[in-house]
Amino acid sequence: VSLTVLRAGRPLKGSVELPGDKSVSHRALIVGTLASGTLDISNLSTGRDVACTRRCLEALGAGIWGEGTSLTVRGRGPDGFRQPEGRLDCGNSGTTMRLLMGFLAGQPFESVLVGDESLSSRPMRRVADPLRSMGALIQLAGNDTAPVCIRGTRPLANLAYKLPVPSAQVKSALLLAGLYSRGQTCVEDPFGTRDHTERMFASFSGGEAIRRHGALACVRPVPLRTDREIRVPGDPSSGAFFAAAALLVPGSDLTLRGMMLNPSRMGFYDTIREMGTKVSIEESGVEAGEPVGDVRIEHAPLRAARVPAKRVPTMVDEVPLLAVLAARAEGISHLEGLAELRFKESDRLDGVRAGLDALGVETHAEGDALLVEGGGPFRDGRVDTRGDHRLAMAFGVAGLGSDGGVELSDAACAGISYPGFFDELERLRTG
Ligand code: S3P
Repeated sequence: VSLTVLRAGRPLKGSVELPGDKSVSHRALIVGTLASGTLDISNLSTGRDVACTRRCLEALGAGIWGEGTSLTVRGRGPDGFRQPEGRLDCGNSGTTMRLLMGFLAGQPFESVLVGDESLSSRPMRRVADPLRSMGALIQLAGNDTAPVCIRGTRPLANLAYKLPVPSAQVKSALLLAGLYSRGQTCVEDPFGTRDHTERMFASFSGGEAIRRHGALACVRPVPLRTDREIRVPGDPSSGAFFAAAALLVPGSDLTLRGMMLNPSRMGFYDTIREMGTKVSIEESGVEAGEPVGDVRIEHAPLRAARVPAKRVPTMVDEVPLLAVLAARAEGISHLEGLAELRFKESDRLDGVRAGLDALGVETHAEGDALLVEGGGPFRDGRVDTRGDHRLAMAFGVAGLGSDGGVELSDAACAGISYPGFFDELERLRTG
């Protein structure tokens, strides 16, 4: 379904209650299921990706009750799973597929993981190779993609592994497999990707299951326990779209409520601050092992952005959105180290350049860097969202800063991470 997002006629004011973080939601379901005890989860992401994780876990024998944002997970303990009857459909969700591969590496039966067209073109060898060296039998399609056929074993061999690519999904898969290893599994992450799995293991084991030393995380096969409840903190990647909306509309002043403030997710907010925005953060507590608080964004004219490669892992899903903002900043923005964007739900480096081109913005690619020329309002145009939720939302936000609106070829894909997004954006736009 196509959708046109119109220019905002007045400043964006007030506050937004953020939906639960997608990464933490997947992990709460998976970790809750393989722990013992009962876990009550609130503010769970209602996106389609997280629903895929739930359905796959249920096919493996998980007990999950409830609908919407509040669920109860009855933990099965590490041994309580059965071979699924059919194939496990991960939909569009790389997190579902890769994290479950790690978990299934420790299950002594065969499973087949499949995905939609986008997921079936994404690289899986980065997960398969280290899991194979732990002892899992894994077969991929000819080009190292899904379908993934996996037969796990127990105990898995110990692993000491340094991530060759910045991927929290790969890291998390190996940490999950580590729960089924003979002794200790250590993963070194020199990139500083998101560490939600590490935090959750620590909080579900009283610190026993995982030890961290700088970039190194070591997991031991210690049973996890979850007699408790958690509230999933607000998603900073979803919040970023509203922050950007406020920065495209003069006079705006928006507060993002209950946002997760994990430093491994804050690169976008650091960058807009450098571009001249006033970002005020008030930390209010800890939820699910994560710092949480309110973030106030006040509109200001933007200077060009400079994003060094080492910051990219902390804002990897926000890069298309930042490129949209850069198009409205003063000067030429330089975003470096974007190679991984080519392996997301779509080739986002290509998708963001094509979208900006449709809106009259000049971009240049130099290796894995992107240069964006800042300037005036967006030209009216139609953007091909390529079924990619982050591209759809990023270019939807661009509509607020256009003269005559931005037409999106498909807006429904936003439901992959944030079903109510365009309604919320419209509510803010019309005040
Ligand atoms: C995620 C990790 C990132 C991110 C994705 C969610 C996670 O992917 O892009 O949206 O939950 O671990 P990579 O692991 O490919 O970097």
